[in-house]
Amino acid sequence: MISSVKVVPLDRVAAPLLAVAVGELSSGKVPSSLLGLDANTGGELARLIDSGDFTGKRDQVSVVYPKKGAKRLVLVGLGPPAEITRGAVRRGAAVAGRKALELEAEIIAFHLAHETHCGVPPAVAGQVAVEGVAQGAWQFDSLKAREKEKKKGIRLLEIIATREERPDVERGRKIGAAVASGHQLARNLQALPGNVCTPSYLADIARRLGKAYGYKVTVLGRAEMAKAGMGGLLAVAQGSLQEPRFITIEYRNAGRTPPICFIGKGITFDSGGISIKPAEKMEEMKYDMSGAAAVLGLFETLAHIKPKANVVGIIPASENLPSGTAIKPGDVVRSLLGKTIEVVNTDAEGRLVLSDALAYARRFKPACVIDAATLTGAVIIGLGHHATGLMGNDDHLLYEVRHAGDLGGERCWPLPLWDEYREQIKSDIADVKNVGGRAAGTITAGWFLREFVDGFPWAHLDIAGTAWTDSARPDMAKGPTGVGVRLFTEFVLGRARG
Ligand code: BES
Ligand code: MN
Ligand code: ZN
Repeated sequence: MISSVKVVPLDRVAAPLLAVAVGELSSGKVPSSLLGLDANTGGELARLIDSGDFTGKRDQVSVVYPKKGAKRLVLVGLGPPAEITRGAVRRGAAVAGRKALELEAEIIAFHLAHETHCGVPPAVAGQVAVEGVAQGAWQFDSLKAREKEKKKGIRLLEIIATREERPDVERGRKIGAAVASGHQLARNLQALPGNVCTPSYLADIARRLGKAYGYKVTVLGRAEMAKAGMGGLLAVAQGSLQEPRFITIEYRNAGRTPPICFIGKGITFDSGGISIKPAEKMEEMKYDMSGAAAVLGLFETLAHIKPKANVVGIIPASENLPSGTAIKPGDVVRSLLGKTIEVVNTDAEGRLVLSDALAYARRFKPACVIDAATLTGAVIIGLGHHATGLMGNDDHLLYEVRHAGDLGGERCWPLPLWDEYREQIKSDIADVKNVGGRAAGTITAGWFLREFVDGFPWAHLDIAGTAWTDSARPDMAKGPTGVGVRLFTEFVLGRARG
């Protein structure tokens, strides 16, 4: 999707679809900035609003057919004016994007009615307009062979602004377009099945990004992992014929400043291994590489924004399968940090591969490390699908991560890593065991990771509940959500601004 900013009266927009986002209307009257448009519809807009059929409540959509100009006018409700934040505008834009996809409008103009600008500055509005429309219009049809079943996507988004706001909106648009491209990459990777998106496939994507944008990319295979001592990742990978990959990717644009390090869990299929999962919904475990997808998405985004920052991405990638060579419950392995792990349950594999990645991160002398992982089903019990579980060892970093999540519309909620929970992962025969019982499963997983954090501020995001949506939402198709890309991006931008 290409995007641009245009200065043109609303009644002269010539797109097949003009979406206008409006906050809740208390008066039942057409907002004054839309009077020209109303005239253009022969009063249809006024009747729509006067009748109470369109009130501007959140996610409401009404279509009107103007006499000239745009072929369709789509009104999108943003909800109560006092609640119109960047998130509400992004959501409204996404609802508009979904409608455009449904109607197969290949060009969409988007305008935020001035009455509803509220506290959202033009640059932010421009950014979230692109993020939202692209999010709503996302579709995954690359594996459909029959052309007839493919919908025409949005090719062009025109943001309609005033002359005064134009430079600010344009600045925001560029960021939004960068974020949207990373978000799209992440969702596409998440959607790919395990037989396509293998560990080597993830490595190829990283190499492709490296080639296109000049990143340093290194990829380790089994032999190099063994040499390095990555016992956690190798243990998970030993049950599969697919070669594991340990991927690092580096964006450098800030001299010698210590890098921000992002780690993404890259289990391209999680069957549970010998501790095999039930068949029901097992096919969804192709998205167990969502953390990795978020990291790769971030690097797509960084290339277009070029912030003054140093950023390192680390992806431990493997399948988790049962076989005659697979790791068994009770086996003890040695992680890269040197600690030994009793593998009580082979389905708690994410923390095994992350243990090596966290230990490896030390070599970059990072300013901080943030990992994203579809780590526990328990986080869904605790927070449902509306927040990512957040843990770590540094309160200031956790605050910063939460703030980045709020900006990106990817909420996080903190869970405690109190010492008492650590008891649950003590092993009789090794340094730690990889499960801590049913109680507080997300927290004991977080504590396990913490055992491998050595010498840097660290935050852990459990995205098991937020990476995928089983049902369609007003602003998002069902399936992959691309969670993490926006949070990561806002975090880097926040640090780059200092
Ligand atoms: N990838 C799963 C977690 C998961 C569950 C992600 C549901 C998305 C949706 C993870 O590897 C796993 O299997 N965790 C186990 C841990 C348990 C064995 C301690 C779980 O949550 O059941
Ligand atoms: Mn598992
Ligand atoms: Zn898993």
